[in-house]
Amino acid sequence: MRGIIYNGTSTELVDGIKLREPGPRDVVVRIAAAGLCHSDVSYMNGLYPVPSPGVCGHEGAGIVERVGDAVTHVKPGDHIAIATLSACGMCPPCASGRPTACRATLGNATQPFTFDGDPIWNFAGVSTFVEQTVIRDIQCVKLPDDVPLSSAAIVGCGVITGMGAVFNRANVKRGQSAAVFGVGGVGLNVIQALKVQGAEKIIAIDTVPEKEALARKFGATHFLDGKREDIVDAITQICPASESAVRGPFNAGGVNWAFDCVAHPTVTWNALESLEWEGNVVVIGVASQTAEFKGLYGRLTQVDRGIIGCRYGSSSPHRDFPYIMNLYRTGQVLLDELVTAVRPIDKWQDSIHEMETGAVARGVLSF
Ligand SMILES: NC(=O)c1ccc[n+]([C@@H]2O[C@H](COP(=O)([O-])OP(=O)(O)OC[C@H]3O[C@@H](n4cnc5c(N)ncnc54)[C@H](O)[C@@H]3O)[C@@H](O)[C@H]2O)c1
Ligand SMILES: [Zn+2]
Ligand SMILES: [Zn+2]
Repeated sequence: MRGIIYNGTSTELVDGIKLREPGPRDVVVRIAAAGLCHSDVSYMNGLYPVPSPGVCGHEGAGIVERVGDAVTHVKPGDHIAIATLSACGMCPPCASGRPTACRATLGNATQPFTFDGDPIWNFAGVSTFVEQTVIRDIQCVKLPDDVPLSSAAIVGCGVITGMGAVFNRANVKRGQSAAVFGVGGVGLNVIQALKVQGAEKIIAIDTVPEKEALARKFGATHFLDGKREDIVDAITQICPASESAVRGPFNAGGVNWAFDCVAHPTVTWNALESLEWEGNVVVIGVASQTAEFKGLYGRLTQVDRGIIGCRYGSSSPHRDFPYIMNLYRTGQVLLDELVTAVRPIDKWQDSIHEMETGAVARGVLSF
């Protein structure tokens, strides 16, 4: 079968990939559509300390092809969205609805594929840029048949990561303000979840000016060009300090929440600098393992500001995917509009180019 392999130095579409048979708790999925997340590009650029050669892709939806003997919650023919978390289901974090903290979900790469007789790794516990993949039963979230698979394809990373950061990791309250740095597939989902939560001011920031229309469509109330030198001042002007607040070293004014969907030192600095008292930065973007950022101690202790990371929207897929699907089916969040380009798998390089130039909200590959 066809699929996209990153071999440690270059990436290519090949034909002839073979898949292992499913174990008792495994499911073989025929991929219908796979979303292109920036993390795929980072993997192809060698930014992640995960093994190669590997079959790329980790966002996807498809149809169950075969199931192992012990699988009970899906059957052949079911439509499913794929979750990357291969959680154990039994440890204390799993038992309390926090599978992103399950140790079984990190470093769980396996070699379910072969190509030319050589074993090939999966990526992010999944691999979706391939005609069929094999995953654990817990990674399959059943979908209603009326949800287009091309839209469901992006739920398993971009959507859950952005929305989950707002719903699960942050505690955004009605009427609060937020700045969202990076209006890509993840940032747009932060924006629309902020809207669901009733945030009053949602300031989108991107270096590609054409992202303004998209950002506003998904709920941004303001847009700032990320190349501006005075981003922090511009944010503070939109969210000024209340008249009773003391300025001076405490720097009142700014947003209650800043979501960093880029992970660049300047962006993280600006995110921290643009916080109101008690505000928090949520870092979602993934940088290389050695990348660093700096910030002023005073921004944290004065007054009660924080900076927190967020993996996979701190989500619990079997709770959160259906919740998001209900928001979609009741018109409260947009999924179809996130998918601005569906390309056949052999046009994968066009999809990457469109992501890098900011021409798409989310690109999807189809089979
Ligand atoms: N924490 C997680 O679990 C998780 C999950 C998925 C993706 N990610 C990461 O989140 C990040 C975003 O992913 P994506 O798929 O949305 O990427 P994307 O390429 O779709 O979007 C990134 C956006 O950031 C903009 N941008 C780049 N530099 C900027 C700057 N200096 N200031 C403002 N905007 C800037 C780009 O123009 C683009 O619109 C990536 O680093 C990705 O690896 C993290
Ligand atoms: Zn666990
Ligand atoms: Zn991703």
